[in-house]
Amino acid sequence: MKTSQVSFDVNLFNLQYHPEKVTPKDWTVNSEEQPRPFKTYRGLPSVRLDHRVPDALGPFVRSEPGLFERLSALLWHSYGLTTMNWLTKASKPEEADAKSLTFFRRNVASGGALYPAEIYLCLKGFQGLSAGVYHYDPKGHRLVLLREGDMTQYVQEALGIEFEEVGSSVYLLLTVRFCKNFFKYLNFSYRLHGLDTGVLAGQLLTLLKALGMQATVHYNFVDQALRHLLNIDSHEETVYAVISANAGQRLKSRENKKETADTLADRLPPVDTPVCEENRRGDYSMIVNLNNQAECETVESFKRYKDTQNLRSAIDGQATVRLTERKKPVDLLQASLDRISPGERFKLSELRFDTLSNILTHHGLDGIKNDVIVNRNVTETIHVFFYAHHVEGLAQGYYYVDRECSSVRLMKKGDLSPLFQQGLTRKNFNLHQVPLVIHLTSAFCEFVSSVGTRGYRILQMEAGMLTQQKQLFAAGFHLGAHPMLSYDAGFLERALGLDDLEQTILMQIALGEYKPLLRLANTLF
Ligand SMILES: Cc1cc2nc3c(=O)[nH]c(=O)nc-3n(C[C@H](O)[C@H](O)[C@H](O)COP(=O)(O)O)c2cc1C
Repeated sequence: MKTSQVSFDVNLFNLQYHPEKVTPKDWTVNSEEQPRPFKTYRGLPSVRLDHRVPDALGPFVRSEPGLFERLSALLWHSYGLTTMNWLTKASKPEEADAKSLTFFRRNVASGGALYPAEIYLCLKGFQGLSAGVYHYDPKGHRLVLLREGDMTQYVQEALGIEFEEVGSSVYLLLTVRFCKNFFKYLNFSYRLHGLDTGVLAGQLLTLLKALGMQATVHYNFVDQALRHLLNIDSHEETVYAVISANAGQRLKSRENKKETADTLADRLPPVDTPVCEENRRGDYSMIVNLNNQAECETVESFKRYKDTQNLRSAIDGQATVRLTERKKPVDLLQASLDRISPGERFKLSELRFDTLSNILTHHGLDGIKNDVIVNRNVTETIHVFFYAHHVEGLAQGYYYVDRECSSVRLMKKGDLSPLFQQGLTRKNFNLHQVPLVIHLTSAFCEFVSSVGTRGYRILQMEAGMLTQQKQLFAAGFHLGAHPMLSYDAGFLERALGLDDLEQTILMQIALGEYKPLLRLANTLF
């Protein structure tokens, strides 16, 4: 596909195919420009969450924890600070300055470990917490109270949905704060915003389900109404997704109601929520402009999408290998703690076919829906392809995962690791050393043309969720999985025949065993 054929904002196309057009290739990062890694409120009341963090799901669930304990575990295992890391000298690039590099890790991956997403909660009926709107502060594993009172009805109206009345419910509002990764990635951070938020949403949804709480993802909402609720400014931060949990049965849609941002916001007085401000701001004009294009000003403007993508005619003739049926149980909390992106520390060893089958078929998000893609569960609009470099019983080659038939289809045979290595735009990985490289793909141009600019970030979030699933279940089998965007999408799609299938690679993930990491890590629990 050429830029001239694109029917949507060309920046969205460039973010996928020509990142150098949105962020210059010779751009050097000035780490002095790095803003504070946390959003910190000043002088607001807060509630300490439970600091006794469970490290295994089974015993925790059997102890029949209350909602407060479950919420504490959910937030810590999704976005809490898990380790403080020091990069040792040997692991630092030569040109790096002499100062040692320290950073916090969390249980989810994030581009450059910069975690641009923030979590807010609007809840009622949780013992130990008054009804209200809170911000999750990972630094202190606590909730900061922004507004007091039951505002769940207001959120429902902004989502255009009416739920049945239940005693306790929580809405997790996931926002993106631009300054957190803009200093490093400039406009390319727009692609990371969707992916990173999706990774976080995937972790929250997986754990909500494991903790016995019903959840749905909402991509449609009256944006300004939710920003008003959280008191955030669209020039700095905006809402990407809302997860409703324990909200009860969905009664009806309110889309015939002519709710607008103004009519909603008029019902809620402004609130003062002082934040430790950042002195350094970037030129977020491209990001703000794309978000403005994506904005829903009324409930009536919500879009839906019916996924009619079908790769069957292309794959049906291809050689098939059935995946192993048996699923080994994975403790999701233990796997969350073990999850890692090993970088240059991969080592080549044969991947067992049974393990491959488990990683490809395990799905912690089964049955969870979003409100835009009407005929699929979350992530099902994303296709999975992989290059088997060293997998027990599989010929080397590029495969498609045929979910419906629980099998894999050989699309291109041969040793493709030189091609994958050539396809890297930053050679900080040796893909000859990795037994498996996964591609998450979708009909990007078709989807964004149908759903519009909002569709771009929706697709990135869906790909982010699947990235999180692959990392989590790889960790469940003591393997590392490293997501990366440093690949030339056009080159790989042509070489692998994906362009004929109109598939765009949204994410590349290397997966395999790894050597101990060259860093000192201090656990924070
Ligand atoms: C959306 C996304 C994009 C990423 N892109 C890259 C990349 O291009 N290159 C890379 O080396 N790592 C990439 N990473 C991995 C992060 O750098 C890694 O998650 C982060 O350093 C934290 O380490 P951890 O995953 O081991 O916790 C990406 C991660 C995510 C979630």
